[in-house]
Amino acid sequence: MSSIPVFLTAEKHHILIVGDSAAAMAKVALFTDTPARISVIAPNASAALKEAGLLPADTGRSGMHVHDRVFAEDDLQGKTLVYIGVEDDITEERIVRLAQARSLPVNVIDKPAKSNFTTPAQFARGPLQVAFSSGGVAPVFVRRLRSSLEKLLPPSLGVLAAAAGAVRTRVKTIIPDGTRRRLFYDRLFDNAGQYADLAQDEVERLVLEAAKSHRVGATTGQVQLVGAGPGDPDLLTIKAHRALQQADVIVYDRLVSRDVLALARRDAELVFVGKREGDHGVGQDGINRIIVEEALKGRRVVRLKGGDPLLFARAGEELEALRKHDIHVEVVPGISAFQGIAATTQIPLTDRQHASSITLVTGHLKDGAFKDWARLSGQGQTLAVYMGVRGAPKISAGLIGEGVSPSTPVAVVENGTRATERRFYGTLATLPDLVTENDVKSPALLLIGDVVSTARDLAETGFDAGRLAATA
Ligand SMILES: C[S@@+](CC[C@H](N)C(=O)[O-])C[C@H]1O[C@@H](n2cnc3c(N)ncnc32)[C@H](O)[C@@H]1O
Repeated sequence: MSSIPVFLTAEKHHILIVGDSAAAMAKVALFTDTPARISVIAPNASAALKEAGLLPADTGRSGMHVHDRVFAEDDLQGKTLVYIGVEDDITEERIVRLAQARSLPVNVIDKPAKSNFTTPAQFARGPLQVAFSSGGVAPVFVRRLRSSLEKLLPPSLGVLAAAAGAVRTRVKTIIPDGTRRRLFYDRLFDNAGQYADLAQDEVERLVLEAAKSHRVGATTGQVQLVGAGPGDPDLLTIKAHRALQQADVIVYDRLVSRDVLALARRDAELVFVGKREGDHGVGQDGINRIIVEEALKGRRVVRLKGGDPLLFARAGEELEALRKHDIHVEVVPGISAFQGIAATTQIPLTDRQHASSITLVTGHLKDGAFKDWARLSGQGQTLAVYMGVRGAPKISAGLIGEGVSPSTPVAVVENGTRATERRFYGTLATLPDLVTENDVKSPALLLIGDVVSTARDLAETGFDAGRLAATA
């Protein structure tokens, strides 16, 4: 490590900034929000500050001294940090020499070789401050790192941190047990987004309320039912990503893509509970047992499901099992297959011309869906069929039998949003052939309805939706 990271207590410092360049003004802007005293010295200091909107009259800030003149040695008196942003090399050298003679930390802006300290890239969320440095070696990486972390930390974390600080002693009285209190703060942090746009006193009230309802008997473990989306890891929510990085154990299904699993914390335990060919896996009761047992051990469990965890995912049974054991459970939504596939195929699911509603159904005929065929599809409707590959012939016949036009356009999309995605277009009449001729495998989704005729790649290949209808 070539640098020593330290945070200086702003109110105990007096910062000297010499120069009226844009870079010097950027430093003034950086310290304006702190209680540090600031002195700015340069022949055009006032004009430069005025242009940057940084004059005390503009910012309402006290403790700023502005001198419109050249630097003098006495200016170093009483200062604890020195920034130099002048154009003239001789003046620059002189200030560096004088500052170093007094053992003052000196930074020549944008010239790390002439400086004995640098100011890190940083961002803040209220009292939480995050600073980054690569010692000047990889500034682009530093920028990337900062922007990734900024995205992970919602702006409301700042007000939440300030509020949590203000009521800390009272929370300690409400939850005296240290482990339980740590868990409480963990959950508070995870749900920082909920406190967006609230004033600090309101957040303080909510934090105290949450502390009171942090039940005494509740286990320290917790379960999050997390939507992994249809496969593309970029479609994960930020909250799902955070859950994956914090989980001790991740219980996942067959449909969860490898790229999504790769985002798990390195030392998390991964438990596969999906079904494989010719093997029914641990079954729903087995899954319920695993997540309950792991949570009761006090672990942070992520139950990771393809798509959205509340759609065709037996979430109700898992929620019930967890609630029975008084285990804290949270649901983190995901992009469902129909949404991911609508995006890749660019099929608007509803459309003023073609459809004013969409129905999501399971094509798993055992579940008794498709009894009411007439209600499910037809003009002005879009139908998204999950798990419909095997039942394609029955689905096609059932809908046509109820009077749905055999020429209704259909899209079959296998491995939607993944690098291996395949798309096939046809009509309700040709649906069974479409599936068998292309050897379509699960996971695949059927989209049925006039909106399919607007699919981007249909248009690109010059496919004529009218012809598609006529051939049926
Ligand atoms: C058990 S359901 C789970 C649905 C999931 N919870 C969701 O919201 O997408 C599994 C079915 O979802 C559909 N599915 C899930 N991921 C898919 C993908 N990447 N491409 C196509 N279909 C997908 C398929 O119909 C698959 O058989």
